[in-house]
Amino acid sequence: MPIAGLDLAEEILALKRERNAVILAHNYQIREIQELADYVGDSLGLSRQAAATDAEVIAFCGVHFMGETAKILNPSKTVVIPDMDAGCSLSDSCPPEKLAAFLREHADRNYYVIAYINCSAGVKALSDVICTSGNAVRIVEAAPADRNILFVPDQNLGAWVTEQTGRPMELWRGNCYVHVEFTRASIERARAEWPDAPIVAHPECTHAVRLLADEVCSTEKMISYCQDSPSKAFVIVTESGMLHRLRREMPDKVFIPGPTDHCACADCRYMKMNTLEKLRDALANLAPEILIPESIRARAELPIRRMLELSA
Ligand code: 13P
Ligand code: SF4
Repeated sequence: MPIAGLDLAEEILALKRERNAVILAHNYQIREIQELADYVGDSLGLSRQAAATDAEVIAFCGVHFMGETAKILNPSKTVVIPDMDAGCSLSDSCPPEKLAAFLREHADRNYYVIAYINCSAGVKALSDVICTSGNAVRIVEAAPADRNILFVPDQNLGAWVTEQTGRPMELWRGNCYVHVEFTRASIERARAEWPDAPIVAHPECTHAVRLLADEVCSTEKMISYCQDSPSKAFVIVTESGMLHRLRREMPDKVFIPGPTDHCACADCRYMKMNTLEKLRDALANLAPEILIPESIRARAELPIRRMLELSA
């Protein structure tokens, strides 16, 4: 219910104080949410914030698996997300039942399962360790040398990590529907138009696109890469929300969205489901709330804690 006399942003901040809440937002959120949040970052930074907060309520503006990760780390806190339907194509590509069946069928391979954080609590519960795009190289390097690695669910991130580490891994055939929209042709067009601008791409992009990039990194690393670079303009090959964060941090530099074959930039329809109105309602109603059966949550916590220890 709107509070008379207050604008939406003021209402959210008042509710946040009343609820003793923290607002965590991913770099792909709309500008208005990023501007209100207590912390904006990538999946690794957000997991660290979720692990460290002493707020009673976490309002997580991102997608469902991110809210789940916060709840796994904070079973006694209330975790709300603005829209319960904000899912992720990558997470959907690896249902826990399918992974469990695969592991049963291939028990002789004694897999060490490394799961990219973009997966459900059920998949995390079946994994040995979690990684994000920000620490995947380090996590794979720390994997036991005598075990076969199964990397789920992103085949593009997995292939990129193997290129970086030389460690062979079996890859689940999942991908992000947003990042596979960037093609060699669309990025070559951007290069021709902006020949002096470094191309900065997320590792969820395909091999053909990664080959054209000057830097491949997580969304948070994009900030430091552009800050440290002497260049004044960059082509950013990831979801469009990232441009708000980059422009806010570096108002004197130019950020050009990487184009796809059909569009001047790429939006994740799930990330864009969150609005200020829905955030206000989530804080007012403490719903939709993330709830996870304790048996799954407890098993999913171990590989997340392992990740946090390995990337401390
Ligand atoms: P980052 O952890 O690099 O922000 O990536 C999250 C994500 O969902 C990319 O599509
Ligand atoms: Fe998932 Fe891709 Fe959206 Fe990231 S951009 S949340 S990987 S669908």
